[in-house]
Amino acid sequence: MGNYNLIYKSWSNDPTGFWQDAAKLIDWYTPAEQVQGELDGLERWYIGATCNTCYNCLDRHVIAGRGEQVAFIYDSPVTNSKKQYSYNELLAEVEAFALVLQGQNITKGDRVIIYMPMVPEAAIAMLACARIGAVHSVVFGGFAAPELATRIDDCTPKLIVAASCGIEPSRIVEYKPLLDQAIQLANHKVKSTVILQRQQKIVPLIDGVDGDWQQLVDAAKQSEKSCPPVPVLATDPLYILYTSGTTGTPKGVVRDNGGHMVALNWSMGAIYNIQAGEVFWAASDVGWVVGHSYIVYGPLLQGATSILYEGKPIGTPDAGAFWRVIEDYKVKSFFTAPTAFRAIKKEDFGGKQIAKYDLSSFKALYLAGERADPDTIKWAEQHLKVPVIDHWWQTETGWAMACNPLGIEQLPIKYGSPTKAMPGYDIQVLDDEGAPVVAGITGNVVVKRPLPPGCLPTLWNANQVFEEKYFENFSGYYETSDAGYLDEDGYLFIMARTDDIINVAGHRLSTGAMEEILSTHEAVAECAVIGIKDKLKGQEPIGLIILNNDLKVSHDEIIASLKQMVRDVIGPVAAYKQSIVVARLPKTRSGKILRATLRKIADGEDFKMPPTIDDPEILTEISATFKRAGII
Ligand code: COA
Ligand code: AMP
Repeated sequence: MGNYNLIYKSWSNDPTGFWQDAAKLIDWYTPAEQVQGELDGLERWYIGATCNTCYNCLDRHVIAGRGEQVAFIYDSPVTNSKKQYSYNELLAEVEAFALVLQGQNITKGDRVIIYMPMVPEAAIAMLACARIGAVHSVVFGGFAAPELATRIDDCTPKLIVAASCGIEPSRIVEYKPLLDQAIQLANHKVKSTVILQRQQKIVPLIDGVDGDWQQLVDAAKQSEKSCPPVPVLATDPLYILYTSGTTGTPKGVVRDNGGHMVALNWSMGAIYNIQAGEVFWAASDVGWVVGHSYIVYGPLLQGATSILYEGKPIGTPDAGAFWRVIEDYKVKSFFTAPTAFRAIKKEDFGGKQIAKYDLSSFKALYLAGERADPDTIKWAEQHLKVPVIDHWWQTETGWAMACNPLGIEQLPIKYGSPTKAMPGYDIQVLDDEGAPVVAGITGNVVVKRPLPPGCLPTLWNANQVFEEKYFENFSGYYETSDAGYLDEDGYLFIMARTDDIINVAGHRLSTGAMEEILSTHEAVAECAVIGIKDKLKGQEPIGLIILNNDLKVSHDEIIASLKQMVRDVIGPVAAYKQSIVVARLPKTRSGKILRATLRKIADGEDFKMPPTIDDPEILTEISATFKRAGII
């Protein structure tokens, strides 16, 4: 039996014993009374244990003699700046900002929203919250003010920490007006903020409301006070991260302290093959789960060196940017989204940029966030000459459900598959009635309860929604909302979503949320948003619009304003560009729009005429419209 099979079996024979052992690599103030069990109606890990995530990320490495080792590297081609923090230095910065938080009356359990671009201060603020037991909620900078306002109302923060601006290659993104607008829009009134002034855009601060990051941190350092880590329960929340649901209301995924530390620490060695002292790089954003787990918490828990990169795969300055960073910092394992690789492949198909750099430190590339297409994987393998590992996970799980775990054993690669279930996950494929399907048949991909440490124990303030959304359709199983199959060797293949979520450039977006916005336009009688195939971004949203009869403005004006509306409400990250006017939408006899059929027509896939369709002729009309629009 190979190592993977042995380890997976050791977990399935004794899940509690497996995670009890893994917990030995974390420092606890008091051990768990129960490794896994039910608490207040929720399935929880390490019940009764006390710990501190920041202590485990920083202090314990300093105590173990790693104080001078580089903990964090900031590399920002968009501002032409670089900075490194040793574990000693990062701890000092985090302690100072934790004092600032305390000065703002933030205590254990209070929520703090962090609305920041890819600057080290974002990670410092996260760790400072963890140090004092406050619960952070990071909001991605590509979201517009109404999205931020929704999150403010849901998690009711006492404080928002933001930056004056973010930097996109084409423009400066001014955060302060978005922040002010969001505070205005939200019902929950946030009384204070801390603003990091970036040189690219210094903004006026409101007296008595906006604190200046640098001034507050300088004062905290001068006070020479210390800020010891505050013990919290393993089951206390560390953070809330909002992710797209099937409606316009995002879901607040809760992450606990104890299970999260154990799972991420385990994954750094077993999955990413990274030990203390080695360099790991996840080219994502702190606003996404990948940034939480593998820019900030995972590498630091392991005592590794992590990189925070404020740039793009191409254009900052060219398609060699990733290879330059790998060479400069001797990165061993590198994690990014397939879309980034498709962008590089498009620009540097022959791999000329790759050849310019010394990649001798580089041992493995990890891809996740969307389906990794075999062409991209093969291109990366051919040019990089390292294993290219596709792995599958979600914001909800916080770490990989399926992977090829290089730290345990490299399993043979099957293109198009993120390989096999990780210990902790009993992955099954069920039909719509909940019966298991045979190997090779596509169905609903589910995970048997209980979920392992690190996965969400609940949604913020929404235990009931949590139960309904994830566990109602398949009793005893977590519903991933992905469709796929297991082959006869136990390899998993993820093929599509079963809900209205689409994946655009590795970003998870709700088409339902876009429809809600479009339908508020006075000229729109009805609409459907679908995700269609896109060579670079995987998918892109398009809106099919039925207009009212009595129009006061031209189609072009309406289409331009629909694009702007989605940008203003969700943000530029929605990448909503195209609306197509149609006369009718195909529906079932009960009035449900046949979105899956629309998508198949747009993607040029075969489809069966839905037996419940009201008027099949509409599909012919739609095909003709797609042809005229150049979609097919
Ligand atoms: N703040 C503000 N705006 C942002 C933003 C941020 N942090 N991130 C993206 N945007 C904006 C972009 O500027 C763009 O705006 P535009 O419509 O004015 O051009 C829009 O959101 C769409 O961005 P994106 O989908 O990222 O497309 P792009 O054309 O700018 O870049 C790639 C294409 C492939 C280079 C880019 O998507 C990429 O690097 N993807 C990697 C994705 C990733 O790391 N995902 C994390 C999951 S692991
Ligand atoms: P997010 O919560 O933003 O990380 O998005 C999670 C969703 O992205 C999953 O439910 C899948 O639909 C998709 N996804 C993530 N990783 C993969 C992968 N390796 N292969 C296929 N789909 C993936």
